[in-house]
Amino acid sequence: MDSLAAHFAAPLPTLETERLLLRAFVAGDAAAVHDNLQDDRIARNTLTIPHPYPAGAAEVFIAGHASAWTDGKRATWAVIEREGGALVGAMGLAFNHAHHRAELGYWIAVSRWGRGYASEAGARVIRFGFDVLQLHRIEAHHYPENPSSGRVMQKLGMTHEGFHRAVVWRNGTPKDNVSYAILRSDPRP
Ligand SMILES: CC(C)(COP(=O)(O)OP(=O)(O)OC[C@H]1O[C@@H](n2cnc3c(N)ncnc32)[C@H](O)[C@@H]1OP(=O)(O)O)[C@@H](O)C(=O)NCCC(=O)NCCS
Repeated sequence: MDSLAAHFAAPLPTLETERLLLRAFVAGDAAAVHDNLQDDRIARNTLTIPHPYPAGAAEVFIAGHASAWTDGKRATWAVIEREGGALVGAMGLAFNHAHHRAELGYWIAVSRWGRGYASEAGARVIRFGFDVLQLHRIEAHHYPENPSSGRVMQKLGMTHEGFHRAVVWRNGTPKDNVSYAILRSDPRP
């Protein structure tokens, strides 16, 4: 087994930051996920989260994470406040191993916006991707009407790389994307 395969054979590691714990989702997180994702201010800024968020969707979302990690496709962490233990978001990497890269995706509970949580958790995940998984590049994309996510990408040390017109299809409508990336050799905040 090569060293990368060994990572995916082991459980998803828990990562810590000053205020947050990033751990694997468990079935008991479904109610918190469901409550958070009811808010269209999260759903409309993502590629796949439906609105209204249907009953049972959180369970399906959580159930897929373990095999996605084991198969080396995705790493998805629940973002937990260390003080009080509330689930306040999700942070993930979707891998493209042929090109040693991954796409970073995230959401944070609306009640916790503006506290620096996305930046704090994202920096930890980027460190894991580069230092442990030996990725070469981590990219992220946001809709033009979601500048706070672009600000998170800037705070993560990502470089603005481009504007992609009508690159994704969302709710029957083509949508533009603003793209950022960071290389392993780039300075990190
Ligand atoms: C984007 C999101 C993850 C940010 O989470 P967060 O924990 O509030 O992010 P942070 O506090 O780390 O940073 C947000 C930054 O955006 C800035 N910001 C907020 N509103 C802004 C706006 N309208 N225009 C520009 N910047 C804005 C904040 O001031 C902060 O920057 P600062 O620290 O320099 O002041 C959160 O809003 C979210 O979950 N949105 C919905 C889902 C989503 O967009 N996911 C990402 C898809 S690409």
